[in-house]
Amino acid sequence: MAKDIKTGPKHVAIIMDGNGRWAQMRGRPRLFGHHAGARRVRDIVEACPDQGVKYLTMFAFSTENWKRTQTEVAGLMKLFRRYIQREARDLLSNGVRVRFIGDRVRLDDKLVNLMDELELLTSQNDKCHLTIAINYGGRDEVARATKRLAYDVAQGRLDPKNINDETLPKYLDTCFLPDPDLVIRTSGEARISNFLLWQSAYAEYEFIDTLWPDFTPDVFADVLAGFKTRDRRFGAVKA
Ligand code: FPP
Repeated sequence: MAKDIKTGPKHVAIIMDGNGRWAQMRGRPRLFGHHAGARRVRDIVEACPDQGVKYLTMFAFSTENWKRTQTEVAGLMKLFRRYIQREARDLLSNGVRVRFIGDRVRLDDKLVNLMDELELLTSQNDKCHLTIAINYGGRDEVARATKRLAYDVAQGRLDPKNINDETLPKYLDTCFLPDPDLVIRTSGEARISNFLLWQSAYAEYEFIDTLWPDFTPDVFADVLAGFKTRDRRFGAVKA
């Protein structure tokens, strides 16, 4: 009899939460926590190939995060620029293809140029696909996708009669990605905060108490092991 071997997730998406609390617990400013968080991004990206995770999508900055103080927002933008500059070479040599999702219109030109360059630099890599969400919101993404779709209808390139649930994903920022199998949120909060709303329809969710800067590759491995014990039925009943 064929054995029911459960495979690990191919696409993991992570809401990296808890940097601020991690810093506060150490009596340090919030940005100290974000810097520690950026080092964890590096660790987790490096852990993916051994864990069989081909696609990793990280929520770095939401469309709502602009409401934070100017100091924190500016610090995060600087951190993203530094991350790209510092990590580019290793990402390239480690076979990581990097892409960004979110609305770039509100981002400063320097950051957008670095994002474009990193996407181009790593475009031939295929070992691991890292997608970083900056100025990303699920509702905003669906609204922007709908606008493009409506434009195609108006231009006669798309017949409304042919629109189905496979049409919209082609207009989403994530059109190059499979849907996530597993969405992880750190820091004990159990909400999805506008992340990958359409794409996560059948994702498994894991809400864990660990703060993002404490999310080591060992914690990651434990979460992935837990995923394998789950029974994914996609709406069907077990045979
Ligand atoms: C949420 O934690 C975290 C963020 C809004 C920023 C995420 C950014 C990073 C992990 C660093 C850099 C990332 C990349 C890709 C280079 P929070 O600050 O809201 O935590 P809190 O709820 O404890 O305040």
